[in-house]
Amino acid sequence: METALYCPNCGYYEKKKDIGRSGDFHTSVSVGPLFGALLAQKFSAWLEGIPAGRHPPVIAEAGAHDGTLAADILTSLHTHHPELFGKIEFRIIEPSPQRRAWQRKTLAAFENKVRWTEDLSGLTNHGAADGGRAFCGIIFSNELLDAFPVHRLGWDGARKLWFEWGVAVNGDRFVWTRLSAAPVLPEWVRLLPPALLDALPEGCAIEVCPAAEQWWRRAAAILHQGWLLTADYGLNEDEILSPCRPHGTLRGYFRHHLADDILERPGEQDITAHVNFTALERAGGLAGLVTEFSGSQSKFLTEIFARAFHDGRLSGWSRAQTRQFQTLIHPEHMGGAFRVLAQRRDSDKINRVET
Ligand SMILES: C[S@@+](CC[C@H](N)C(=O)[O-])C[C@H]1O[C@@H](n2cnc3c(N)ncnc32)[C@H](O)[C@@H]1O
Repeated sequence: METALYCPNCGYYEKKKDIGRSGDFHTSVSVGPLFGALLAQKFSAWLEGIPAGRHPPVIAEAGAHDGTLAADILTSLHTHHPELFGKIEFRIIEPSPQRRAWQRKTLAAFENKVRWTEDLSGLTNHGAADGGRAFCGIIFSNELLDAFPVHRLGWDGARKLWFEWGVAVNGDRFVWTRLSAAPVLPEWVRLLPPALLDALPEGCAIEVCPAAEQWWRRAAAILHQGWLLTADYGLNEDEILSPCRPHGTLRGYFRHHLADDILERPGEQDITAHVNFTALERAGGLAGLVTEFSGSQSKFLTEIFARAFHDGRLSGWSRAQTRQFQTLIHPEHMGGAFRVLAQRRDSDKINRVET
């Protein structure tokens, strides 16, 4: 999955810039600029509430792809919160030179506002001149963690154990192959009750994504004061094993269709799996973060909308915005399948977690 998506020469996300109608799938960002405008509304409410510190607050995005969401947020802050726009720094966490080039182009109008870092550690290390500093602000992502490589586990009902699926080459095709080494199981899988395991169908599959939890843990460790937010499609742990998903959630998208075989067309189709939101929330909690919001995208965005309405900030709301809002919150579009997790660290909580 990592090679198919991120190989510098042939990886899907290195080659395919288009998301939305001309791409393989939609995201809340490709629906239109409203998603970014609502996030900007939320971010301004958060940042305006924290006392001015020695350094300006930072808004940092990971998984920015071509920079559209960053541009939507910055445009909205510039228009509706010019004072805050003047104060903040905007960072993009982007390991790929190719995607950084796309983002620079999209964000040309904000070239003095945006800076790039290859990974999370760059958020607290701004070079020798500044000697490193504690991160205060917001680290956010949309549909980042569903694109992290997963381990695919299968259930062997006869031997009552989990095994791991690997990928092998057979002739000119990639095929699934059962790995002989025992997989590393996360605690929630190890602790599944025997009665439930007895009821699992032979070959039922789930995914685990230690990389997503590790990313969240590292982001939490960096956060000295502020918020960590992600929006994505995902599940809570008690929803993962479900009769309606015997093959798990790992899937491919090609031209807006579910791919029949995710091993087909490597580098040409998207591969994705649902995010385990319970695991993220637990990782953040163990790192000392407090959950501020955990629920559907629909509820999250509706609350922002209601606040803006109450504050009289919605004058000039257009029909296009209404359509975008309906798509973003509709339970059969993005409002139900997508979830939001926002966790917070207050400044007096000292960060003691290893990165
Ligand atoms: C599904 S796309 C979402 C793009 C965009 N956020 C949106 O919502 O339209 C996932 C993006 O995350 C990026 N990505 C994956 N791993 C990353 C990492 N470790 N750091 C930063 N970006 C990453 C991918 O390259 C891709 O651009």
